[in-house]
Amino acid sequence: MLALVADRSSDIRLSHREVPDPEPRHDEVLVEQRATSLNRGELRRLATREEGTIPGWDVAGVVARAAESGGPREGARVVGLVNEGAWAERVAVPVDAVAELPDDVSFSDASTLPVAGITAYRTLACGGFLIGRRVLITGASGGVGRLAIQLAHRAGALVIAVAGSEQRAEGLRELGADEVTIGFEADGPELDLILESVGGDSLATALRRVAEGGTVVTFGNSSGEEVRLDASEFYGRAPGARVYAFMVFNEIRREASGSSDLRALAEMVAAGELKTEVSLEAGWREPAEAVKALLDRKVAGKAVLTFE
Ligand SMILES: NC(=O)c1ccc[n+]([C@@H]2O[C@H](COP(=O)([O-])OP(=O)(O)OC[C@H]3O[C@@H](n4cnc5c(N)ncnc54)[C@H](OP(=O)(O)O)[C@@H]3O)[C@@H](O)[C@H]2O)c1
Repeated sequence: MLALVADRSSDIRLSHREVPDPEPRHDEVLVEQRATSLNRGELRRLATREEGTIPGWDVAGVVARAAESGGPREGARVVGLVNEGAWAERVAVPVDAVAELPDDVSFSDASTLPVAGITAYRTLACGGFLIGRRVLITGASGGVGRLAIQLAHRAGALVIAVAGSEQRAEGLRELGADEVTIGFEADGPELDLILESVGGDSLATALRRVAEGGTVVTFGNSSGEEVRLDASEFYGRAPGARVYAFMVFNEIRREASGSSDLRALAEMVAAGELKTEVSLEAGWREPAEAVKALLDRKVAGKAVLTFE
């Protein structure tokens, strides 16, 4: 089969190569890929990934071979999540990280749900009961951010979205943000839950704005910057506040929630309650433009590669 493999000699650190088909274990389905979405984290990791290995986390396609242990039957339309290997024509996916898709959810839409959707869903869950709570989302114009705004609004929170510019902020109110700010200021009302993915000064600001007993979920470092923190200012001002380190793969393993989270998200999309915000779609044989656009912060939401 054909796959995109890590290749540091290419300007996007990826090239196509013929590789052996995956050999699914008894508890894995073999999926023929129809769409995958790009995530900032997997693109950044290309810098250190072993040459010739297949990256890719998000799976949306058709089951070519069912698992011996059960799960979706052959021919089922599914969405799934893998640790690596999704940027290929066929992928072996554990049955506990796959869900059948409602008929009216496209593969392109479905491919945004595994990493970005589950991250939005589960980071919000770290805040517990959200009705009336002040929830701030950094990196709100991106893939996770646009899904998190909608899910937080739907959960009854007062949602504050932080974007980098007026242009990047476009459309965020329509998704459910009650307030949109350009940049994250240290002065302002205290916040019950902060979904923080920019790192550096943004994470330091989050620690200055979190309320007593509130939660900062740190799950990204898009800026690549280090954080400077006055620890006594933090614990003295906001006793009981906590910082939660979030990793999507660990989270779904611990909660055994991969399939159920994907099912819940896909049903919200089917019901018109969640927009996937795919703003760039390209064929997987020509991924360069989509990869560069995402890294250059030119994608408003998700970039998807389709397998024609
Ligand atoms: N821990 C986990 O399990 C997990 C899961 C999913 C994602 N993540 C991480 O969470 C972050 C968000 O993911 P995503 O898929 O939503 O990424 P994305 O689509 O690229 O969005 C990131 C957003 O961050 C903002 N940003 C601010 N400063 C930035 C900078 N210096 N460089 C790049 N972006 C900057 C950008 O918004 P403006 O242009 O408006 O400033 C951009 O829209 C990424 O760092 C990703 O690696 C982690």
